[in-house]
Amino acid sequence: MIELEGGDPDIRRARVDDVGAVARLAQSVAIAGADGRDHPKGFLIPYSEQEYEDYARRADFFEVLRLQGTLRGFVLAHSAAMSAAFGGEVYEHIGATHPGAHLVVRQICVDPACAGSGFGRALYEAVFERARRAQPPLGSALCFIWEQPANEASAHFHAATGWRRVEGYSLREGSGRVGIWQRDLALR
Ligand SMILES: CC(C)(COP(=O)(O)OP(=O)(O)OC[C@H]1O[C@@H](n2cnc3c(N)ncnc32)[C@H](O)[C@@H]1OP(=O)(O)O)[C@@H](O)C(=O)NCCC(=O)NCCS
Repeated sequence: MIELEGGDPDIRRARVDDVGAVARLAQSVAIAGADGRDHPKGFLIPYSEQEYEDYARRADFFEVLRLQGTLRGFVLAHSAAMSAAFGGEVYEHIGATHPGAHLVVRQICVDPACAGSGFGRALYEAVFERARRAQPPLGSALCFIWEQPANEASAHFHAATGWRRVEGYSLREGSGRVGIWQRDLALR
């Protein structure tokens, strides 16, 4: 991680009183239009504040990163056992094709003003360490990355942090295509 003014960031479990800041950060990187090329630092499709609140209450691996008290990033993940409770077409596909205990990453997001500071990597290291210590321990993580529209920043970031693309999945009704990516948590 680069040297930062203001010291090291603090990573801890997300709380309900974080969700306003989480939702605002997610909105700031929301995809606008159908072209991922408008988003050189990556994009996502935000959840509503109510949905983030539900995740803060129930998702077992939802972490926030704060620098000097300001929220600068988050990773929203849960064990595969919780996928059905939260739903989503791609997550249903992942659950059907990857049985067994694993970590499901729904969103990772870093404030664009802090991109390239090592915060995304630090969030993953924190959540992976917790997943390794879970009972039962989680041996791998899965996520998806948009390919149509393409989130090239995310693909580069995930390749740099030990993930590999394992398959493609086309959404029903022609609403895009994603790559499914996997991370072996035994890798450090
Ligand atoms: C993608 C994202 C999470 C990266 O976070 P970050 O804090 O900037 O990443 P880090 O600084 O921890 O970088 C870790 C590694 O990824 C690489 N990386 C990160 N962003 C990259 C980019 N846009 N292009 C190429 N490589 C990138 C870094 O070079 C670094 O590699 P290194 O350690 O080998 O030098 C962040 O830019 C983001 O939140 N984007 C918007 C939302 C999004 O796309 N989320 C992912 C949805 S699947």
